[in-house]
Amino acid sequence: MTRQIIVAANWKMNGDLALIDTMVSSLKDVKISPATEVIICPSFPYLALLKNKIAETKLNFVLNVGAQNVNENTSGAFTGEMSTAMLQDLVINYVIVGHSERRSLYNETSTLIANKVIASLKAGITPILCIGESEEERIAEKTQAVLYSQLKPVIEQVGIDKFIDVVIAYEPVWAIGTGKTASSAVAQETHQLIRHYISQQSEYVASKVSILYGGSVNAVNCKELFAQADIDGGLIGGASLQAEQFKIICAAARGK
Ligand code: PGA
Repeated sequence: MTRQIIVAANWKMNGDLALIDTMVSSLKDVKISPATEVIICPSFPYLALLKNKIAETKLNFVLNVGAQNVNENTSGAFTGEMSTAMLQDLVINYVIVGHSERRSLYNETSTLIANKVIASLKAGITPILCIGESEEERIAEKTQAVLYSQLKPVIEQVGIDKFIDVVIAYEPVWAIGTGKTASSAVAQETHQLIRHYISQQSEYVASKVSILYGGSVNAVNCKELFAQADIDGGLIGGASLQAEQFKIICAAARGK
């Protein structure tokens, strides 16, 4: 069953004009599989600048731009926030939702995250929904329960059929920015658990939904991770800030 393969760069609160220039220019000579979608998610101020740079650079593949967050309301008195309509104005077609840093540092709940997913889908923007367990939860063998408890409220509010347009990113919190990647076996086993949960509600959606792995993916470990049956690409933090590493990661993601 073919699924969309995706490599998404999460620049977090990093990057600048110089990185946009270097990254887009150095992606000129990379060979991206036709099965693979590449997305760069910079901070809000750089969305339009990145789009412009891509438009003026001759790339031999489509390089997408995504946001790292969005507000669930349509408009109004929400100082510092960005709406889906604003992302639509910039022709942004992806948005990261529910990253563990948003959950832990900004107290985002599953209900709020579900509302963001709904708002994004309504606007035709693909949400990349992040889920993942902490180290304590994994040690206590609560991984499956935690992942299901993160998915359940979102699926209940959004509806399983709409999940066909959602991308899931499994990011174990203990692997984010730590250099401690999940082994390919552990990552595969956990992706399988996630797909199994979805399949209990819709086998069709489970066979189609892309599940990305995130957490210390780099140029060395990406190939083995991406080769796993249920891993459909990656959400890349630190390594996506280095053009040479990111190029290798993009090239390693291909249809199975
Ligand atoms: P990392 O971050 O690749 O630096 O671990 C991944 C993420 O947080 O999306």
